[in-house]
Amino acid sequence: MCGIIAYSGQRKALPILVAGLRRLEYRGYDSAGIALHRRGRFATWRAAGKLSQLEARLPAQSGAKCGMGHTRWATHGEATDSNAHPHHSPDGRIAIIHNGIIENATALRGALQADGAVFNSETDSEILAHLVAMHPADSLRDSVRLALRQVQGTYGLVVMDASRPGELVAARNGSPVIIGVGEREMFITSDANAILTHTREVVHLEDGELATVQARIFSIATMDESMISRPPVTLDHSPEALSRDGYDHYMLKEIEEQPEAIARTLGGRLDRQFGTAHLGGLNLSARELRDIRRVRFLGCGSAYYAGISGANMIESLARLPAASEPAAEFRYRNPVIENDTLYIAVSQSGETFDTLAAIREVRSRGGRVLGICNVVGSSIAREVDGGVFMHVGPEISVASTKAFSGMLACFMLLALQLGRIRDISPQRGDELVEAIGELPGLIRNALGESPRIREIAARYHGASSAFYIGRTDAYPVALEGAQKLKEISYVHAEAYPASELKHGPLALIDPDTPTLVVLPDNDLLDKSLSSLQEIRARRGPVIAVTNSGREDIHSLADDVICSPPCHPLLHPLVMNVGLQLFAYHTAVLMGRDVDQPRNLAKSVTVE
Ligand code: G6P
Repeated sequence: MCGIIAYSGQRKALPILVAGLRRLEYRGYDSAGIALHRRGRFATWRAAGKLSQLEARLPAQSGAKCGMGHTRWATHGEATDSNAHPHHSPDGRIAIIHNGIIENATALRGALQADGAVFNSETDSEILAHLVAMHPADSLRDSVRLALRQVQGTYGLVVMDASRPGELVAARNGSPVIIGVGEREMFITSDANAILTHTREVVHLEDGELATVQARIFSIATMDESMISRPPVTLDHSPEALSRDGYDHYMLKEIEEQPEAIARTLGGRLDRQFGTAHLGGLNLSARELRDIRRVRFLGCGSAYYAGISGANMIESLARLPAASEPAAEFRYRNPVIENDTLYIAVSQSGETFDTLAAIREVRSRGGRVLGICNVVGSSIAREVDGGVFMHVGPEISVASTKAFSGMLACFMLLALQLGRIRDISPQRGDELVEAIGELPGLIRNALGESPRIREIAARYHGASSAFYIGRTDAYPVALEGAQKLKEISYVHAEAYPASELKHGPLALIDPDTPTLVVLPDNDLLDKSLSSLQEIRARRGPVIAVTNSGREDIHSLADDVICSPPCHPLLHPLVMNVGLQLFAYHTAVLMGRDVDQPRNLAKSVTVE
C-alpha cells in the first residue's frame, strides 16, 4: 500500500528519499513522487508506474536538505502522473503526501469547487492540500490541525510549507506514521524498514496526534492541542535483514530462512521441565486462561487461513471450541462478543486496517483481544491486551511465507500452553514439546525437496487453473497453497475440503486441470485417497503432497511432493513448505514479478 518517506537534516535529501522509496516498494504501489524544498519553493516530480519511471525524471542531484517522497497504491482515481503524490495547494505553498482514505472527500471537493477551487487530480489527498492552505495560523501544525477538523476518514500524512524551510508536519489517524530520530537529522515514514539504514531510534505517532519535525527536534501534540512527551524506542532488527542476500527473490530467501526464523519464534518458549510452553506476553494468569470457553481468530488473507489451522490446534489440544473468521466479515456482521471468549488478532504487519478495526469492535464491546504479530511496535501490537510476537524477521515479499509459518508456530505454543492448563497430561506435554522443538530441522528437510518440486512445477506451469484439496487439518494447507499460487503466478487456484469435491468442483476436473491433494499421514488418509481416485477417474492430473510412506500414493498420483514425517500437530506447517516452493517455482517459470505481484499490497492499510 501507499508509503511515506520524508527527511529533514544536514544531508542531501534526494538520494535518501529515493532509497527510502525503494525500501517501500515491497508494500505494493502503482505510482510515486518526490517534492524537495529549495529556496522558498517546491520542486516536484511524479510518475505513474515503477520507481524507475520516476527516477528517469529526477535531476542527477539537488542540494535540497528537506523533502518528501511517496509511493501510491491507487484508491481514488487511476494510477496516473497527476494522481501521484505529492499534491499542492493552488498557490503552491503547501505540499502533502497522504496514506489512507478521506471519506467525506466528495462533499469537501464539492464545497471547494463551489467556491471556485480547481483540482489537478482525482485524488482525495489533493483536497487536504487545499484545506491546509485555507487555514493560515501561527504554526503549520495549527493549520494542519484546523484542516483535519473538517476531515472524516483515515490518514497518515506529511505536510510541508514552502515558507518554512526544514519543517515537516505529520499527522496520524488510522494509518501508521513513525518519526525516525537520527544525528542532526529526522525522518518520517509509514514503515520503519524505509529508514533502518539511517536510524533504529523511532517514535510512533498515535491516532489523533500531530508532530512537528525539524532536523534537530520534534514535538508531538494532540488534535485538542495537548503536548505529548514520548521518548524514542530502539527497533531490534538490523538493516541487513532487509537485503536479498544473493537470492533472486525475497520470497525464496524468506522461504529458505524458515528454519532459523521458526527457531527464533520458539526460542525460550518451550518448557521441557513441565512439558508446556510459556508465552509471557499474554498478560493472562493461569486462572484467566482456564476460564476461557471459546477462541476466535481474526485476520485477513494468509493470516485468516493460518487462523483456521490455529483453531484446529486449539480444539485438538485444549478442547476449546475455536474458529477463524475474516476480520472484515466479523466486524460488519454485528458479532456477539462474550466475556469468556478469547479473541486473537493475527497479522504479520500489525497494520492491516480490517484486522485493526475488528480489534476495536471487540474492545469497544468489552471483549479481550490478544495479538499474534510480527512487527514490533505496529498498530495492532500496541492496541491489543497482550500477545505473542513471531520474531521471524522482516518479511518483504508480498506473498507471506515465513510469517505464515511463524503464525502456525505461535498457535502450537498457545495450544500447548492452553492445553496443559486444561486437558493435557505432563507426559503428553513432554511429547509435544519434543515434537515442536523439531520444527526447524523438519522445515530444513522439507526445503531439501526444492529441486524436485521445481521439476514438478515445470510439468504443470502451462495449466490455467488448479485445485487444492485437503481434509480437516490439511484444508488450511490447501487454502494457503492455492493462495500462494494465485498471488504470484496469476494461475486461477481454488481450494476445497476434499470431502466437498463431489459437491461441485468435480465438474471442472479435466486433463488440463491439475489437483494438488494434501495427504498427511493420519487416519483420514484412505478417505483422502478416495478423493484422489475420483479425480483420476475423470482423467485429472494429481500432484500428491504427502508425508506418508505408503507406496500406493506414488502409483496413484502423477507426481508426489514429499514432506518429512512428523508429529500430526506439525503437519500443516511442514507440509505447507512444499506448496510454498511449488508456487514460487511456478511463478519463476512463468516469468512473473514474484516479490511484487500485480494489484497486491504487502499490507492493506485501507478498508
Ligand atoms: C495482504 C497481503 C497478504 C496478507 C494479508 C494480511 O493482503 O498481500 O499476503 O496475508 O494482507 O496481512 P497481515 O499483515 O495482516 O498478516
